[in-house]
Amino acid sequence: MSKKAWSGRFSKSEHPLMERFNASIPFDIRLYQEDIQGSLAHAQTLAESGILSKNELKKLQNGLEKVKKELESGDFSPNLAHEDIHMAVEARLTEIIGPLGGKLHSGRSRNDQVALDTRLFVRRQTLETCHRISALQQSLLNLADKNLNTILPGYTHLQRAQPISLAHHLLAYFEMLERDFSRFADNFERMNACPLGAGALAGSPLKLDREKTAQALGFEDITHNSLDTVSDRDFVLDFLFAASTLMMHLSRLAEELVIWNSQEFGFVNLPQEFCTGSSMMPQKVNPDAPELVRGKCGRVYGNLVALLTTMKALPLAYNKDMQEDKEPLFDSADTILMCLEVFQNMLAQTSFNTEKMRAATKDGFVLATDVADYLVQKNIPFREAHAVVGQLVQHCQKNAIGLEDLDLSTLQRFSNAFKNDVSKIMNIENSVNARQTLGGTNLALVKKELSRAKGILKKRNSP
Ligand code: ARG
Repeated sequence: MSKKAWSGRFSKSEHPLMERFNASIPFDIRLYQEDIQGSLAHAQTLAESGILSKNELKKLQNGLEKVKKELESGDFSPNLAHEDIHMAVEARLTEIIGPLGGKLHSGRSRNDQVALDTRLFVRRQTLETCHRISALQQSLLNLADKNLNTILPGYTHLQRAQPISLAHHLLAYFEMLERDFSRFADNFERMNACPLGAGALAGSPLKLDREKTAQALGFEDITHNSLDTVSDRDFVLDFLFAASTLMMHLSRLAEELVIWNSQEFGFVNLPQEFCTGSSMMPQKVNPDAPELVRGKCGRVYGNLVALLTTMKALPLAYNKDMQEDKEPLFDSADTILMCLEVFQNMLAQTSFNTEKMRAATKDGFVLATDVADYLVQKNIPFREAHAVVGQLVQHCQKNAIGLEDLDLSTLQRFSNAFKNDVSKIMNIENSVNARQTLGGTNLALVKKELSRAKGILKKRNSP
């Protein structure tokens, strides 16, 4: 049984079971860089407020750098007795530089310290996530570039609906990812305030220049209420929510790839490098990468709900419940980066079976709306036109032909508004190009949207 930093008040030592139950070091070891970065900034602040001499500051700085190196090399590996990363760093620091190590915690509590470390972590992960989102967006643009003129049926209710450009379909995911990007970016802005100086809950009697510390750590602001500072985990929740929505989007793309990769559709050729085989059925090539992305939604949503539930009804200010924030955060942060990276690499090697897509526009009466729109332009009320085309479709089905196979005299049996020019609309390209409201699938418009999207990424990637 080891002596704890807080053991002064205790006459009995901690039960080994409690030590195991209470320790966060097995997972918060991951915050060591943030913890040391924060401690270096705090030491500087202490020196400026006169708590540390210049010489003491230097020793602390050197000591902290040494602890960091030892953690990196594995020369120092904390154990359960250290409880958490904050105490582990302090304990090792004190072993290295002596009692001076104990001065570092002046004017600070683990409550504002962990709030800082977590913010620094979320900040870093947010930047990395945004970077990966952009990279995936780029993969989508590359595919869209190649497939502006690839036409496939667009679906509603997973039933063939109207012909669209594949680039248009891919750009829909660009838009979703663009909103995901901005959700992470918004959270970054909002959470970019430094908690140090809040102390345990009420602030510190020491003269600490919070603004200067914030600046040194790259924060835009300081937090403005010490109670809120140590009990706020909104920024983690916002990150987990943004992660959940991102995964929801990725899972929709995943689902489409799984369906499109099926023999029934055959629209896409997923690279074998991202598929696996069956241990029993020799013929199988399974789309595991998109299936796993789809499946991992579960844990990412779960992490959000887990922390929302943990935070619910907690009285102010810090409560140990909040230590439960880290594992969901780490898990979601890792999961989304992995999913983004897998999709980006998989899409870079993905090709589409454009002939099959095109062939699928032949069945399914995808021009039916165009025929109804034609009648509307001949002054027939849309409801009536809809009914006429419904009858036409029935007729075609009975005779196993397509709408484009009907000659004028047959069409005129259903409505005398049909004229010679009807042949123009019985054409897939014309149908796609007819949809010229802004944001529609008209090829010239899609081309414009494609270059707009490229412009967004270009601007983002330029320094
Ligand atoms: N390991 C703790 C956590 O992650 C650090 C804060 C502990 N604070 C305290 N007063 N015990 O939440």
